[in-house]
Amino acid sequence: MTSTILIAYATRYGSTQEVAEAIGDRLRERGLAVELKPTFEVSTLKPYSMIVLGGPIYMDRWHHDARRFLKRYYTTLQEKPAAIFALGPLHQTPEEWQDARQQLDRALEKAPLLKPIAIEMFGGVLSPTRLHFPFNHLKASDARNWSNIIDFADTLAEQATEHVVI
Ligand SMILES: Cc1cc2nc3c(=O)[nH]c(=O)nc-3n(C[C@H](O)[C@H](O)[C@H](O)COP(=O)(O)O)c2cc1C
Repeated sequence: MTSTILIAYATRYGSTQEVAEAIGDRLRERGLAVELKPTFEVSTLKPYSMIVLGGPIYMDRWHHDARRFLKRYYTTLQEKPAAIFALGPLHQTPEEWQDARQQLDRALEKAPLLKPIAIEMFGGVLSPTRLHFPFNHLKASDARNWSNIIDFADTLAEQATEHVVI
């Protein structure tokens, strides 16, 4: 087994990809080898020592591609350290964060034997100009907290160095 970490992400408008890239950059800064791929481009988990799976919440559900990845690789994901992240809440209201976390947990309930080394929810991005009515009338926002994202990556880096012989 190599010591490469896979960051597999689902996205519709790119904000989750940017978070995946930031996590990847941080892990590389910490001396780890990282591959970044959209979930649909992954055909095997064999080469990877750790898997990070990320996707946004849309209409109360974790992105379809993330759920599909979880189902497809459920068995392998139990055998390697795996971490999960999601993007969703656009405002700092506790209800919105609780709802988003429940939506993520509902997706993870379908994979009860998976014991992620970390699960994290990040704020999401709304770019109304890219959306259809009525969402194109909403206010643009970016609730991503980059310092929390870097902290998450640092937690993964620590776990990776524990699990992986570099
Ligand atoms: C049409 C629409 C529906 C959304 N539904 C939810 C939702 O149910 N729960 C939530 O927490 N965030 C929701 N969001 C926020 C997205 O998760 C957020 O915009 C995220 O950053 C999108 O990721 P992407 O740019 O990678 O596609 C929604 C956003 C849009 C545009």
